[in-house]
Amino acid sequence: MTKRVAILISGGGSNMVSLVEDMIGDHPARPVLVLSNRPEAGGLEKARARGIPTAVVDHRPFGSDRPAFEAALSAVLDQARPDIICLAGFMRVLTQGFVTRWQGKMLNIHPSLLPKYKGLHTHARAIAAGDSEAGCSVHEVTAELDGGQVLGQARVPVLPDDTPEALAARVLVQEHDLYPKILRRFAEGTIQRPDQP
Ligand code: GRF
Repeated sequence: MTKRVAILISGGGSNMVSLVEDMIGDHPARPVLVLSNRPEAGGLEKARARGIPTAVVDHRPFGSDRPAFEAALSAVLDQARPDIICLAGFMRVLTQGFVTRWQGKMLNIHPSLLPKYKGLHTHARAIAAGDSEAGCSVHEVTAELDGGQVLGQARVPVLPDDTPEALAARVLVQEHDLYPKILRRFAEGTIQRPDQP
């Protein structure tokens, strides 16, 4: 049975495009919705150009009422009946309530080698720490920010005189390769969680 994938974005959606362009042929999943919290997200046009239904739930009218915003997100997601939700450059922190509602179905890509550098400014922090390598992680989403089981990682060297922008660009290339690989295995049910026998 083909798995239905909803992808949540906030910006340009380059990771969304990589996921969508991999879900073809014998891939066990297909994209059914691209949903953004920002009406101006560039990724929405990229999704529409690929014939994928899109929706916007602007978080701004909800102010600090995260549960109300997330209830609106879930209402839109319920319509799409996703088996899997991929956060792809989605920049809103999710509460325990939302994560519990979609527990076990939600993946995220984070631009660091978790558990290092949860949160923001990951590349600047790796450079400042003098790390020799950096990278990205795909993980299951839990209520702990950038917590959850890490399902896959990709590594890049940190080069002398690297700027955060240069390192981000190098990591992004790896994100576009890693996320589709992990999604495919997650959809197949062949992902090996490290804590599983
Ligand atoms: C990427 O670095 C991703 O790791 C982070 O958001 C950035 C932009 O992602 N979560 P995208 O181009 O919007 O997919």
